Amino acid sequence: MGVRKSREEWKIYGNVFDEFTREVIFRLASQGFFDELKSAIALGKEANIFTATAGRQAESAEQVIVKIYRLENCNFKKMYDYLRHDPRYMSTKPSKRAIVFAWCQREYRNLLLAREAVRVPTPLAFKSNVIVMSLVGDPLTGETAPMLKDQTPENPAVFCQLLLDDIRSLWKAGLVHGDLSAFNVLNDDGKPVMIDFSQSSPTAAPNARALLQRDLENLAAHFKKLGIIIDVEKEMKRIVK
Ligand SMILES: Nc1ncnc2c1ncn2[C@@H]1O[C@H](COP(=O)(O)OP(=O)(O)OP(=O)(O)O)[C@@H](O)[C@H]1O
Ligand SMILES: [Mg+2]
Repeated sequence: MGVRKSREEWKIYGNVFDEFTREVIFRLASQGFFDELKSAIALGKEANIFTATAGRQAESAEQVIVKIYRLENCNFKKMYDYLRHDPRYMSTKPSKRAIVFAWCQREYRNLLLAREAVRVPTPLAFKSNVIVMSLVGDPLTGETAPMLKDQTPENPAVFCQLLLDDIRSLWKAGLVHGDLSAFNVLNDDGKPVMIDFSQSSPTAAPNARALLQRDLENLAAHFKKLGIIIDVEKEMKRIVK
């Protein structure tokens, strides 16, 4: 484990992050949730994702994932719309920061709930617009599991069934993913792992069934290309029953 970075040293990330975000990263690192950011692995719609070396809170040398939501260049309107449908976040203030912080906290809370039912990244910490979670893949080397869209499973039928069973277990635990696609499902050695839970909603939300239907339709479109037919209506019934 390297020497902990000083506030000054974190400034080298100044080109990438604003001062507020650098302070959040510094605080989380100081609290021992990670030591230093290692590789940038993805630049998403709303977040930058890094691997990071384990901090002193970690029990091993395993690398973790640090997901940093941007304070600008997000689709705030869309995010706010989703939040307003979620009974837990209905009263979120319509300011950019309030929206991003709620979005990040929501991902953390959703992962905590989801992990009771299915295998997802373990949420380790969050603060403001930054969330730390376990790495799916090989945490010792930092190699992340490929996305389903980049790595077709050897047995797509088995993979698809495991995924549908996970979606059902998640629903039983009271959550619908809401943004499922071949981007947000990782292929971890032939086993599906759902990620990216900021958009997930309680099944009690008024739009929960519509989100479930859309998730299933997205997956049906992808698996059709692999020769697997998902009967969306039948699956809907099986899941919500
Ligand atoms: N816990 C994790 N383990 C391994 N890889 C991960 C993990 N979290 C994210 N990734 C990788 O980073 C990519 C982007 O992550 P994610 O889907 O969470 O963010 P995003 O799509 O940018 O989110 P948003 O749509 O909210 O902006 C994923 O497709 C995946 O390749
Ligand atoms: Mg994603």
